[in-house]
Amino acid sequence: MSIKEVIQRRRTIKSFKKETINRDDVMSWLEAASYAPNHRMNEPWEILFLGPETRAKLNHKTDLGGAPIALAVLSKPASKQLERDENVMAVSCFIQNFMLLAEEAGAGVFWSSIGAQPQNRELLGAVDGAEVIGVLGVGYPAEIPALKPRTPIADKVTEMP
Ligand SMILES: Cc1cc2nc3c(=O)[nH]c(=O)nc-3n(C[C@H](O)[C@H](O)[C@H](O)COP(=O)(O)O)c2cc1C
Repeated sequence: MSIKEVIQRRRTIKSFKKETINRDDVMSWLEAASYAPNHRMNEPWEILFLGPETRAKLNHKTDLGGAPIALAVLSKPASKQLERDENVMAVSCFIQNFMLLAEEAGAGVFWSSIGAQPQNRELLGAVDGAEVIGVLGVGYPAEIPALKPRTPIADKVTEMP
């Protein structure tokens, strides 16, 4: 599959098979995802593997679609707003890389923003200046949702003088 095909095929997966997913595979996708662009090479991603206790406390309404693996991806704390924003941007690139690698391997990811809730920030140990960029369910899809069409990109393009 070309990168273009992987990008266009990736869907947010909301229902997973019970089948486990090889932890080494997940680690290898995280490793490759870390080649994401990041300012000053600060590599601002922190990854938590969430066990059943933490996952139950997160109180997600579908328990991340029953994904066999749950991760939280946090951005490194920063005191200045620009650095904080750049950390969020870099970690978002990291997560997109991870999702594309999972897609290429026939797996799928549910990106939930539930970690941004104050009680979940605390649960996940997000200190001031850090953000929980995503709580991710990872596994093999039980259902693959239909593609959600995008606005033609020409409608988003403006020519500047
Ligand atoms: C930052 C971010 C947060 C998201 N949070 C949620 C969420 O809390 N719940 C959810 O169902 N989907 C969430 N999504 C997934 C989007 O709903 C999904 O990407 C969008 O509907 C497009 O569908 P697709 O990913 O299948 O192309 C999130 C996506 C991003 C990038």
